Amino acid sequence: MRKITTFLTEEEVNERIKEMGKEITEHFKGEEIYVVCILKGSIYFTAELTKRIDLPVKIDFMKVSSYGNTTRSSGVINVQQDLSGSIEGKNVLIVEDIIDTGNTLHRLIELFKSRNPKTLSLCTLLDKPDRRQVDVNVDYIGFSIPDKFVVGYGLDLAEEYRNLPYIGIVEDSRTPT
Ligand code: IMP
Ligand code: MG
Repeated sequence: MRKITTFLTEEEVNERIKEMGKEITEHFKGEEIYVVCILKGSIYFTAELTKRIDLPVKIDFMKVSSYGNTTRSSGVINVQQDLSGSIEGKNVLIVEDIIDTGNTLHRLIELFKSRNPKTLSLCTLLDKPDRRQVDVNVDYIGFSIPDKFVVGYGLDLAEEYRNLPYIGIVEDSRTPT
């Protein structure tokens, strides 16, 4: 059995998401937002965040894998499931669970820009700045965290622990490189 230690409680996470929703609402006042949930890790975050955005919102999903055949974050993303609608001329908000090396998001930004949205913004629940390899400009960050492997609130370890209502640290872990 792995030991999981609570890092952020459900209340702390939801409180921060509420603030982020407010910030996004103020920033996009009078506009509609096309929210893109990056599967699977962002499902709970997207659900909670969109409830806190007081503007017209459309929600879409994209599933990408960033690691190809190796466990190394290669910077090559593979779109496993694409959006159901066009983002051309829309205010797109990409919602990520966590930014680690930045490779996934970097590639996603290139892909999204090529589809001509009106605006493109990025939002992540968690950020591990110590691990960054590629510079990415993130508009909304929930929490900056140290280099530990975290699970829960959508985040998994080999598909386990996504449904924990809080964010926990897997003891004796570092992010696999
Ligand atoms: P990167 O920014 O391209 O290195 O990849 C970020 C992706 O790696 C995230 O979307 C997660 O799927 C995964 N990831 C990185 N760190 C963690 C962690 O601590 N827990 C769970 N997944 C993680
Ligand atoms: Mg992910």
